[in-house]
Amino acid sequence: MQNVMPVYGDCYYVGGNDRRIALFESAYPVPRGVSYNSYLVTDERTVLFDTVDRAVTELFLENVAHVLAGRPLDYLVVHHVEPDHSASFARLVETYPSVTVVTSRKAADMLKNFYGFEGNLLVVKEGDTLSVGKRTLRFLLAPMVHWPEVMFTYIPEDGALFSADAFGTFGALGGSLFADECDFFRDGQDDARRYYCNIVGKYGVQVQNVLKKAAGLDLRFVCPLHGPVWRKDFSRFLALYDAWSAYRPEEERAAVFYASVYGHTQNAAEIAAAELARRGVPVCTYDVAVTHSSELLAEAFRCSHLVFASCTYNNGIFPAMEHLLSELEAHAFRNRKYALIQCGSWAPRAGELMEERLRQMAGMEKVGETVTVLSALTAQTADGVRALADGVADDLLKNQKGRI
Ligand code: FEO
Repeated sequence: MQNVMPVYGDCYYVGGNDRRIALFESAYPVPRGVSYNSYLVTDERTVLFDTVDRAVTELFLENVAHVLAGRPLDYLVVHHVEPDHSASFARLVETYPSVTVVTSRKAADMLKNFYGFEGNLLVVKEGDTLSVGKRTLRFLLAPMVHWPEVMFTYIPEDGALFSADAFGTFGALGGSLFADECDFFRDGQDDARRYYCNIVGKYGVQVQNVLKKAAGLDLRFVCPLHGPVWRKDFSRFLALYDAWSAYRPEEERAAVFYASVYGHTQNAAEIAAAELARRGVPVCTYDVAVTHSSELLAEAFRCSHLVFASCTYNNGIFPAMEHLLSELEAHAFRNRKYALIQCGSWAPRAGELMEERLRQMAGMEKVGETVTVLSALTAQTADGVRALADGVADDLLKNQKGRI
């Protein structure tokens, strides 16, 4: 049975939710599921914006047929060809064979490669427009946000931006379509940060370019391909996007990441965290072998000061910590203060190796000296941990002014 939601006027939400998916993109746990958004406008010409993942194809086709109510589908605008939005493309085109696909040059090539599509095609460039009746579609290219073919559509008459993955979030829609109906900044911001940092985080420069384009638009509705639609308080979400894409921390806040085998590195990390808290620093602590790397990456994007504590393992960094550092590198992470704790029983060198990796990232600045724990903490090494906490706290508290 169809489950269509009105967005505004004759614009309808025709997507669906998947709460059974274990790993989004085979990589990211989504315990609150994910939505695959698609929107259908019934002007003098009918226009569908994107299709959906195969998990919700049947519902999507029912939704589209319900809204069209026997009318033909004139245009399918494809903003992004990644299969979570295009897996239903072939079924849609088969169902509406006279439809004209409107998309970028690169997306047209991808549609051919993925689905052998050689049907009716209208290739558009930056700034091209298409009149569909009482409204005009204006196309804006958004390359590498986060694939090369990505584009947005802006409808000036509605103040509506169809923004592909940009401004999307993890988390299925819980019944409400709009961010202002579901207390997004209380319940959705962590999912949005984790989505942004992991999916788009590498492409901060390209996102900044898109934000510059968006800044000139009258935005009354922002309709992404995942998560809720924005019609209120979008500027607050935009400020978060600006911080994330500029690799600026959201908060003057510390995160302590530790990798520990027998508990001694954990002991040092937890003393550091407790000492930071005692000095008035907001802080969270993570065992990197337990918490999923997608959450650790998002927390690193959020915080201004990071403490990395790792035991030495096979004469290197403990694998889970090495994985976190690789994730930071892969997402072009930068511009943070960090401090280091290492542990080892005969040749501790995780600190030196972590520092080498962190120094390769732009704008990373070390605070204090690396603390070395030889097998287990002593009074002297505990003093070293307290000195590290002093250095981090002094630096953080002098900058504390609430970034967002
Ligand atoms: Fe939601 Fe890049 O696909």
